[in-house]
Amino acid sequence: MGLLRPAVEDVQARHPNAVMVDAGSGNAYLGFVLYELFLKGADTGALLSIEGRPDLTERAQGRAQRLGFTRMQFQTAHIDTAKYPERIHLLMALHACDTATDDALVAAIRHGADHVAVVPCCQAEVAAQLKEKRPVVTGSGTLSLLYAHAWHRREFGSHLSNVIRALTLEAFGYQVTVTELTGWEHSLKNELILGRRVHRENRRARVQLERLLAETGVNPKLTRELGVKPAASVGALAASTEPEVPVVASSEPGVDVSEHPPVEGAERVAPSSSSET
Ligand SMILES: C[S@@+](CC[C@H](N)C(=O)[O-])C[C@H]1O[C@@H](n2cnc3c(N)ncnc32)[C@H](O)[C@@H]1O
Repeated sequence: MGLLRPAVEDVQARHPNAVMVDAGSGNAYLGFVLYELFLKGADTGALLSIEGRPDLTERAQGRAQRLGFTRMQFQTAHIDTAKYPERIHLLMALHACDTATDDALVAAIRHGADHVAVVPCCQAEVAAQLKEKRPVVTGSGTLSLLYAHAWHRREFGSHLSNVIRALTLEAFGYQVTVTELTGWEHSLKNELILGRRVHRENRRARVQLERLLAETGVNPKLTRELGVKPAASVGALAASTEPEVPVVASSEPGVDVSEHPPVEGAERVAPSSSSET
């Protein structure tokens, strides 16, 4: 909650009817705590929990009714085909399995979420792509040694997936922070990726992303869904000097996002000059 608080307070301050989405909500524990702390005392705003298992949705819905949490909504659906409100303000996905985290990020980007918070879970798709396509890397090819063994491929695939997720958020205009969620004794899937939308797009990050896809030979669901293609030439980065496009003009007239402080309580990734407002 400490890590999410700045995002929640930001959307509540800027959008009286803020819509928060918890994708792959399970028992909706995250949603109940968020509602108790931030929504119960406010008159407006809603929290939508999306979960693929109907038994979990029904149980959580019953609990919300008993608690009088009337602005907590539930949908039994797959994250990629769920019905979303036109505009999402904050999207969270905590341990949404494999490509479900990608689906959540696609929904956030398509619905213009101001803030995104995901803690990815197990990841298999990219490891499988690494196995099929190795080695597509340039140069001496020694990078492929990082994933020659199945165990390493799983770990490297998981790491590469999260690097691609963070870079994709940057490419679509988010300022990204990657940090630890909690102690390792609680979960090995412990990487929290926070995004705050500050630009409409970041062309430099987009070129870096396309180049990374080309160099590693992978193309996970996230980039496929968003139409990001591997670079035809890995030399493309040098040619790109185009700046970011500020988000202010397109989606939130009058709101200068640069005034919003960085996320507190989280270690900031050393920013590249391209990710600054
Ligand atoms: C590991 S649990 C985490 C639940 C909850 N976010 C939490 O942290 O307590 C993952 C949940 O995501 C749901 N899930 C996985 N893939 C999904 C998808 N594509 N669409 C909807 N729900 C999904 C599962 O049914 C499960 O309840």
